[in-house]
Amino acid sequence: MSSNGGTTSPGDEDLVRIASLTRQRAYAPYSQYRVGAAIRTRRGKVTAGANVENASYGLTVCAERNAVFQAVNAGEKGFEVIAVVADDLPRPCGACLQVLTEFCEPELRVILASAAGAREVARLADLLPRPFKLEQRD
Ligand code: THU
Repeated sequence: MSSNGGTTSPGDEDLVRIASLTRQRAYAPYSQYRVGAAIRTRRGKVTAGANVENASYGLTVCAERNAVFQAVNAGEKGFEVIAVVADDLPRPCGACLQVLTEFCEPELRVILASAAGAREVARLADLLPRPFKLEQRD
């Protein structure tokens, strides 16, 4: 299924599988809502993350941010697609969409996947059409 980001492409299910496996590492004792994310560069490098909660709720970090920060710290750029998996079809939060906007093109494909097999594909710019931007000074 698609919501204006096109349909799934070859390789998408592999990325969903990696996100699902990483989801097993979620630390979500407060919400019990476990999320996994896997992001792939155009060169084919994949990095994954899961959500990590905290007793001080606001310190929780979502799966998407853990995946993209880990990729950036490994020197990766040129992201093509991210897969996000939860029990139901996840909707990336505004904070994660803003972080993705920092490192990805508006055309980034975002695959939303439920553990039961539902799929939706969107573009980053459809999910966050008017992101905050600041001129870079370096
Ligand atoms: N969460 C994510 O990891 N990604 C999303 O797309 C939505 C929300 C996490 C944060 C928190 O640990 C839990 O899900 C409930 O909000």
